[in-house]
Order: sequence, then structure tokens, then C-alpha cells
Amino acid sequence: DCQTCQGRDHRRGKLLIRSLNGKEAQLMRMYDLIEEKKRGDALSEDEIAYMIQGFTAGDIPDYQMAAMLMAIYFKGMNDEEITTMTMEMAKSGDMVDLSAIKGIKVDKHSTGGVGDKTTLIIGPIVAACGVKVAKMSGRGLGHTGGTIDKLESIPGFSTSIPREEFFDIVNRTGIAVIGQSGNMVPADKKIYALRDVTATVDSIPLIASSIMSKKLAAGSDGIVLDVKTGSGAFMKTLEDSITLAQKMVAIGTRAGRRCCALITDMDVPLGHAVGNALEIKESIEVLKGGGPSDLREVSLGLAANMLYMAEKGTIEECRNLAESAIQDGSAFEALLRMVEGQGGDKSYAEHPEKLPKAPYSFEVLAEKDGFITHMDTESVGIASVMLGAGRSKKDDVIDPSAGILLKKKYGDSVKKGEALAVLYASKESLFADAAGKLKEAYVLGAEMPLEKKLIYARVTKDQVERF
Ligand code: URA
Repeated sequence: DCQTCQGRDHRRGKLLIRSLNGKEAQLMRMYDLIEEKKRGDALSEDEIAYMIQGFTAGDIPDYQMAAMLMAIYFKGMNDEEITTMTMEMAKSGDMVDLSAIKGIKVDKHSTGGVGDKTTLIIGPIVAACGVKVAKMSGRGLGHTGGTIDKLESIPGFSTSIPREEFFDIVNRTGIAVIGQSGNMVPADKKIYALRDVTATVDSIPLIASSIMSKKLAAGSDGIVLDVKTGSGAFMKTLEDSITLAQKMVAIGTRAGRRCCALITDMDVPLGHAVGNALEIKESIEVLKGGGPSDLREVSLGLAANMLYMAEKGTIEECRNLAESAIQDGSAFEALLRMVEGQGGDKSYAEHPEKLPKAPYSFEVLAEKDGFITHMDTESVGIASVMLGAGRSKKDDVIDPSAGILLKKKYGDSVKKGEALAVLYASKESLFADAAGKLKEAYVLGAEMPLEKKLIYARVTKDQVERF
């Protein structure tokens, strides 16, 4: 039975639906919508509602939605279409009401990267500064890692917690990070799965609606977006990343949320560690005042913006607050509270050397002298997936100990025979292919390249501030 027309009518292959405002019934066919978008026309509110509701309910088949996604990829969507699609997707499942948690709740979302472990650092910093963090995070996607997979490398840590208990933990400890519940934004789950296999991930309207539908459904008052740019990001150029950020900020603002975005570098992996337990260890180093400087800098920039949104002062004051939370140990204390609150064994955070360790390691050596003039960061991500740190197929099981420690990054000088990186895996047979892929990521040249920025711009509803 067609759930979209709820049995009212189903004639000559046409589905009958009620228009959004309930005024009159209209006949619609997905075929006609694909034809419209193929010609580059804008879809109406009712057409987008029909498409999202029909696809979520299973009435519109994958092959028609796949054709539509490719048409959107090539012809784009205007701002009204993107906003309507985002709202329809957000309300396709449960919308979370966070009012049971006191104070301003601020969320953060990254468009996805390699070695991007900032949530593990920022969440505790922001909580230590007195702002509640009720965060729903994702798992790894393609070559990019996911916070939930990383947290699960701490024994006992639960990322699947009933709503009431989640609120209770946040009220008690100031922070909890869980996975999205089963019925949140089912439209995105289905559309993302199709995009993943139809080469339609890197589309601005599709990324904007995917991310913002989840953020709006997750219920925070403020949203800080970390839009990655470069060879390891879905958006490879700065201008595309700024456009994506502007679209997402506009959607969030129209939906009544405070929203801003930082454009941060993903031309080079963030930090040295790529892989779940390895990234937890590196995040703990930063929370304890050490760790790689690029990771620390991007984390502080994002944390400052989250605190600003929670009205803790000017951006500069908020950055000072964030730095103090690291220096006085309160951010690390917040991490321990989070681990304990979610059932994890906090001794693993206190003594990170206890975290899962791979039985085998393999050094990838430089084949000549030179400077690292370019990194294909997506290849680093793919190599980590090949070692078991991510999934190639939906049901693959993650190996928490697998991953890569980068010994050399963009701008470093290297001698022939020196280690570029160390690979970690549970099976030695995985090293040959992964090492081959990782080598592809390094381009060596004779001259030291120019220094890269870590944060390129800040996008608000009113302006783009370039740094
Ligand atoms: N992350 C998402 O959640 N969706 C996208 O489309 C891309 C990155």
C-alpha cells in the first residue's frame, strides 16, 4: 500500500498527496519531478515534501531517488529548495526537545575529516567552562572517521543511552556524547546510503541538508559548524567550503538557531593520529596541555566559538576561558566525568597506555630526500580504513587499535629511509596495500612549501571574515 497517499488514491502510477498546507490534493509523480530537476527547474515545497516523505516511507524506489540525487548534483538547488528539503528531512523522524537540560545548549558539527578528533577535546573544554554539552555524533563515513567509533574504544563506554538518562547525565556531569537514536532523521539515513554508492556525496545542497537536518532535529540552541576544506574534505576548494558554510548558517538562522561556521584546513590530516584508540590518546594529550599544535589550535578556535554562542564573553575572552580550562586541568576532569557518566572505565583515560594496542606495526619509509609539499589526505583516510580503523562496507566491524601515526606531515623535511608514518593493525597481511595507499598521500619536492593556514574564515549570517 502506498503510505504517501495513505490509500486515498493510487491511479495510473500517480500518487495522490495532500499539499503541505492541507489545502488541496495534488497528483504527483516522481518521474515528473526528476524531469523538472533534470531541466534545472526549482522544485516546489509540495514536491519536495512529496519526495522526502515518499522516499522515507518506501513508496519512491531507490532508482528514482538515485536519479534525482544525480540531477540535484548537476543542477543544484536554490536556497528555498535547500531549506524546504532540510526541514522535511529533519521532521522525518524524532525531533529532540532539550528543554529538560538547563541553560543554553550548544552543538558543533564537522563536515568530516581525517584525524579530526576535535569533539573529544572541545566537548570537555566547553563543559568545563559551564556550558552544557548534549551532543549526538556520528560514526565514520567513507574515508572520514566518526566520534562514536572513537569513544567506543574506551572499554564499557556506552554511546547508546535512552533519552531520559542522557538528559540526566548532562544535567549531572555537564556533558554526554551519544549516537543518534534509531528514529532520528530516517530520511537522511536512507538518502546518505544512496549518495554513498552513487557518487553524489560532494554536493553542496545535499551536504547542507544532510548536516542541518540532523542538527535541527538534535535540538540545540546554538550550532558551530566546522566546515573542512582541502584534499581530505568533501569540499576540496575554499570557495566551495565557504558557500557550503553560508548555506548551512542561513538554514540554521532561518530555523531560529544561533549558527556560525569556521572554515578549517583538511588539506593535511589534523594532528598525527588517525584511528580510533590512537585518536583518543592524542585528544587526552591535548586536554592535558600537550599534543600537536594544529589540533590544539583548531580545537581552541571551535571551543571559543561555542562559548561565544553560549554568551560567555567576546571571542577573545572565550578563547582565554578555553585555554584556562586546559591549563587548570578542569577540561580533563570533564572528560573523566563524561567517561564515567557513560559507563566507561575512566582508568583508560587516566592511563591511556591501557587503551587497545595493535599487535603489529609497520613503518612506511621515505624513498628519497625532500620536503613534503603536498598530502592527499583522503588517501591517508582510505589507508586507515584498509587497516581496519573504518568500514568499507556498512556492516564491517571496526578495529579500535588499528590506524596510523604520521611521523611527517606537510612542510616537514625528510631523509631517504626515514619513517613517514607507522601503520598499526591486527593482521600483518593488511600492511602491503595500506602502505601503498599511504605512499600515494605523500608528495615530496626540493623546496620547503609555504605555511598553510589552519582556520581560513569565520562565516556568520551577516558576513564572511577571512583570516
Ligand atoms: N556529513 C554528513 O552528515 N552528511 C554529509 O552529507 C556529509 C558529511
